[in-house]
Amino acid sequence: MNFSHRCALRLGDSHELIRKIPDNYVDFILTDPPYNLGRHSTGNIPLPGRTPMNNDVALWDLEPFVPAEWVDEFIRILKPSGNLFVFTSYNMIGKWYDNLDHRFSTTQFMVWHKKNPAPKIFKAGFLNSCEIIFCCWNKGHTWNFISQAEMHNFVESTICMRPERLSNPKHPTQKPVSILKKMISIASNENDVVFDPFMGVGSTGVAALSLNRRFIGFERDEAYFKAAQCRLEKEYARDIL
Ligand SMILES: C[S@@+](CC[C@H](N)C(=O)[O-])C[C@H]1O[C@@H](n2cnc3c(N)ncnc32)[C@H](O)[C@@H]1O
Repeated sequence: MNFSHRCALRLGDSHELIRKIPDNYVDFILTDPPYNLGRHSTGNIPLPGRTPMNNDVALWDLEPFVPAEWVDEFIRILKPSGNLFVFTSYNMIGKWYDNLDHRFSTTQFMVWHKKNPAPKIFKAGFLNSCEIIFCCWNKGHTWNFISQAEMHNFVESTICMRPERLSNPKHPTQKPVSILKKMISIASNENDVVFDPFMGVGSTGVAALSLNRRFIGFERDEAYFKAAQCRLEKEYARDIL
């Protein structure tokens, strides 16, 4: 089996690309769409004698993201036994809930705790050390329960750092493969199809291939797309050698 049988990557807008996926085709949608947090950002923070702390997210994050535009297609392509996990933030979780909770039999959430978040320079609030993952599924879903101790809805790691973290292009929200692997191990089986319509530099795909899953990934930024393609080809080659 060659790379293109394990992995389908497309450069373009997922609004159009997702329509090409057949009904009931995907086992696990694991995705990290824009959070629209840029609008809440205070911008770059000047630090005396040092480079300003970059507090901006990215231009793509400023474009309003509307969960309602995506849920019908997610549900159409997801198998009845499938799971849907979406990374999100405090400002979007209600929108995901309003659009998804009544369409699935179960909704839960996970928390990703980042052990080394950016410091709060002015000490006037909490460090932003957690991200939320909205999870939903129907009865009879694929679920590999590990153990009571390991199935807390909490996962912990550092933020993505070198050498895993790419420097060119640098993606502001690259996720660590370790936390994605945990989610994929629980919510899918070997040879299942994992789909990420907002794949950035392809972290979900790297995690999926490393666990012997198939992967479909879309990204509309060409530099991120090429970086994802390169990472995934390397992961595939590593896997078969
Ligand atoms: C939060 S990032 C994902 C980062 C990814 N988890 C990683 O580890 O690299 C969201 C990505 O979605 C892409 N994106 C936003 N809207 C899109 C759309 N309509 N179609 C395809 N990609 C889109 C952005 O360019 C961005 O790279």
